[in-house]
Amino acid sequence: MDAKLFFGDASTFETPMLAVFAVDLAKDKNAEPRPALLTPSSTLNHAAHGLLESGEFKAALGEVAVLHAPPGLKAERLLLVGLGKLKDLSVDRFRKGAGTAIRAAKPRSVRRMVIGFPGLDALPSGQIEGLSAMLTARAMVEGAVVAQTDWDTYRSDRKDCSVDSLTLIANETQASVTSEMRRGFEEGLIVAAAQNFARSLVNEPGNVLTPTVLGERTKAMCDEAGLKCEVYSSDKLQDLKMEAFWAVAKGSAEPPALIVMTYEPQTAPAEDAPVFGLVGKGITFDTGGISIKPADGMEKMKYDMAGAAAMIGAMQAIARLKPAVKVIAVVCSAENMPDGKAFKPGDVVTAMSGRTIEIVNTDAEGRLVLADGLHFAKTLGCTHLIDAATLTGACVIALGALNAGLFSNDDATCARFESALAVSGEKFWRLPCTDDYRDHIKSEIADIMNTGKNRYGGATSAAMFLKEFAGDTPWVHLDIAGCAWNEEKKPWVAHGPSGIAVRSIVEWVRSYST
Ligand code: BES
Ligand code: ZN
Ligand code: ZN
Repeated sequence: MDAKLFFGDASTFETPMLAVFAVDLAKDKNAEPRPALLTPSSTLNHAAHGLLESGEFKAALGEVAVLHAPPGLKAERLLLVGLGKLKDLSVDRFRKGAGTAIRAAKPRSVRRMVIGFPGLDALPSGQIEGLSAMLTARAMVEGAVVAQTDWDTYRSDRKDCSVDSLTLIANETQASVTSEMRRGFEEGLIVAAAQNFARSLVNEPGNVLTPTVLGERTKAMCDEAGLKCEVYSSDKLQDLKMEAFWAVAKGSAEPPALIVMTYEPQTAPAEDAPVFGLVGKGITFDTGGISIKPADGMEKMKYDMAGAAAMIGAMQAIARLKPAVKVIAVVCSAENMPDGKAFKPGDVVTAMSGRTIEIVNTDAEGRLVLADGLHFAKTLGCTHLIDAATLTGACVIALGALNAGLFSNDDATCARFESALAVSGEKFWRLPCTDDYRDHIKSEIADIMNTGKNRYGGATSAAMFLKEFAGDTPWVHLDIAGCAWNEEKKPWVAHGPSGIAVRSIVEWVRSYST
């Protein structure tokens, strides 16, 4: 999709479809909806007047209405996009609103469209926390570009109904504001492309995206983005004594891939400057191994590499946004298969760090590959670690699909991550991994075991296991099992891979760039 930012009056713009946002001004829960356009333009308000008065359109979040040949406008159609109650308005609502506009245009065969920038002046001041022209522009372009993609690549009856050209239009003349909008727009394009790249990887089936292919696709992206990228396999795992990672990998006919991406800032940072380590779980298919999963729903386990995809996407955005900090990403990719050569419950392996691990369940494989990935990142000089993984079903049970799990061994680092969420619009909920949970992973046989002693608090048991390998290094762990795949259809985004965590990780890293 070709996206442009244009400054001018939306009502005089010739286009097949012009989208404008509307909110519901009603305050009380049971009050009649009072839909109103988010623009001071009298021409636009006049054109929508009848519809707004009719009561047919309530401006609920994700609701749309189309007016053909709207009076006084050059646009062929006016699309009203509801953002919900005014009191609930946030930057993220503009992201969802722009996404809804694109997804309403697609089935109507609209190839070119314009989305009107909200008239923020029309709002009572201080109405929306953190709202700025920059962040609004950024959120809108992100929402639109992410909404454009449908995951029907493998369908032969695929209909090509994409919006080829999008113009965001803002009636703004003040140079300080227009330059902020331009910056937000450019950043949004970069971040959205990175999120879509991550989604495209997650969408691939396990027979296509093997660890080797993940390595190849990552290398191709890095070559294009100007990142250093090394892809290693089985031999390197032996050299580095990554027995935990190898235990998972050895049951598959597909060799593992250890992918290392490095971003160096343009100006060499001070010797004591932080170095960020992004570690991703890249299980391209998780059968559970010898502790095999039930057949029902197993096909979903192709997305068990969504943590890796998040890190790969984040690195693409980082390469383009060029923060002043060094970032290293480590992706541990393997297929978890049952086989004569597969690891077994009861096995004991020594991780790269020297810790011995009793394998209790081969389906708890993600923490094993990450254990070596986290330790390896530390040996590469990382001073701050973040990992993302579709790690536990327990996290899905705890938080559902709206919030992903957030764990950390350091409050300050965690608080940084949580402030990045105001920009990314993603939702993470912090769960505990304090030392009093250490008993969960105590083993009679080895230093630790790879499951909790029972099912209770399973997401925390997994985090406690990873914490052993993060050690004293400030570390954030993201359990994205419930959020990596959109099960439900939403007006603003397609069903399928979500690309969760790319935006938040990028923003977290950038928060350290001065
Ligand atoms: N990949 C799964 C976790 C998962 C579950 C991801 C649902 C996405 C959706 C992980 O490897 C796994 O199987 N974990 C086990 C751990 C258990 C054996 C301790 C689980 O959560 O059941
Ligand atoms: Zn598993
Ligand atoms: Zn898994």
